[in-house]
Amino acid sequence: MSSGTRPDGLKIKVLIVDDIPDTRENLRKLLAFEADIEVVGVAGTGREAVELAKEVKPDVVLMDINMPDMDGITATKAISTVVRTAAVVIMSVQSEPDYLRQAMLAGARDFLTKPISSEELYTTIRRVYERNEPIRQQEARMSSMTRMEQDRAHITEPGMPTPGAGHIIVMYSPQGGAGTTTIATNVASALMRPDTRVLLIDCNLQFGDVDTFLNLRAQTNISNLTKSVDDLDMEVVESVLVTHPSGLKVLTAPSRPEHAFDVSAEDVKTLVNYLAGSYDFILIDTSTQYDDLTLKLFEIAERIVLICNPTIPSVRNTRKMLDIFDTVEEPADLSEKVIFVINRTVDERERGRGTVPIASIENHLKREVKAKIPLEERAVLTAVNQGVPLVAKVRNRPPARELAELAEHIREAVGPPGMQVQDVSTPPEQRRKSTIIPILGGKS
Ligand SMILES: Nc1ncnc2c1ncn2[C@@H]1O[C@H](COP(=O)(O)OP(=O)(O)OP(=O)(O)O)[C@@H](O)[C@H]1O
Ligand SMILES: [Mg+2]
Repeated sequence: MSSGTRPDGLKIKVLIVDDIPDTRENLRKLLAFEADIEVVGVAGTGREAVELAKEVKPDVVLMDINMPDMDGITATKAISTVVRTAAVVIMSVQSEPDYLRQAMLAGARDFLTKPISSEELYTTIRRVYERNEPIRQQEARMSSMTRMEQDRAHITEPGMPTPGAGHIIVMYSPQGGAGTTTIATNVASALMRPDTRVLLIDCNLQFGDVDTFLNLRAQTNISNLTKSVDDLDMEVVESVLVTHPSGLKVLTAPSRPEHAFDVSAEDVKTLVNYLAGSYDFILIDTSTQYDDLTLKLFEIAERIVLICNPTIPSVRNTRKMLDIFDTVEEPADLSEKVIFVINRTVDERERGRGTVPIASIENHLKREVKAKIPLEERAVLTAVNQGVPLVAKVRNRPPARELAELAEHIREAVGPPGMQVQDVSTPPEQRRKSTIIPILGGKS
């Protein structure tokens, strides 16, 4: 959504924190244009910000770093602890890794690099607000409980999501059979760690086959949850998920293609946002369709793993998709989220088999390939037949090695839990495509 009202009719409450009066005023003026955003307070110091946040309970806090009395990092820590529903966005002059690290550890959810364009400002506010929905729901339930119930809930958290980092990663290919499910199941498996909760959701609603790939027999599926999406409860959710012997949690697709008609894209989006509150990574397998569901999933995704094969039809379809990504900037810049992957690569010496060289694909699409997964018929097929992800069996041989490396690339790209980090390897001015209105400058 852009400058209209929100579907829930609520406004996003924003608190502006900066010690420079002009900056505060510029931000306030810019936000005044947006019907779904309301500035509920402005503060000139970190200490003032903490006091004001307790009072006005903002949804989003725009936080400067260098300020007198209490710096932005310390204030972020205090606000994140006291007002759990407030998502802090750090504003700094440069995306300095050291500052960002400290900000992440303090609980910041995103950052903006000055000068900030109006589009970046609006998009970031809406993104962090949407991603905080599970926390708002949890707090709303807590506040409707008695004190005794709250204490009990803190110990056992019945029906409550335990907070997770909630990185949503969507796997997509515009080409059928490109290897999306193979990559989704393997990356999900490789991301699992004792301290990392991973959920794999099959959003290929008509012909989803994650259950086949993982040899799962599910009695329940996503439609059991989307039916009651307004009244979700983690206990019910847990009973619908299936657990692979490796411990990976899976939400399967409807068992029959026609049942997909009962699942609305909006409900899937609400469900995924809710689940993001309880898992560190949510991996989503999709169909090749570019429809309302895929678009909604792209919007809420933190990263889109775009899968292409080294063949002319696949490269052509990928080109079409990248063109679409380049034009969609609201509510999120899709193009920036893309992690481009080639599946079924072959040794350059064997290229006679009609494959397009990787360098030509990169040149043509003007995209760097972040992972190359080799063609290995036997290994991949055996793994599918056994229902065990390749990476769970061997990690040091192709293509398991490359799949595990892709998982690590994703882990690094999204940063430590709790923070949605943009790709800082690309300078902000190259990342932006919308008209930049340099409203802020100067110090951080
Ligand atoms: N790197 C690879 N090497 C060899 N075989 C592969 C590789 N990747 C995928 N395959 C095989 O290709 C087939 C299609 O893969 P997969 O089902 O993952 O593709 P998909 O993009 O999810 O397809 P769909 O469009 O049907 O959802 C499977 O049989 C899988 O085992
Ligand atoms: Mg598939």
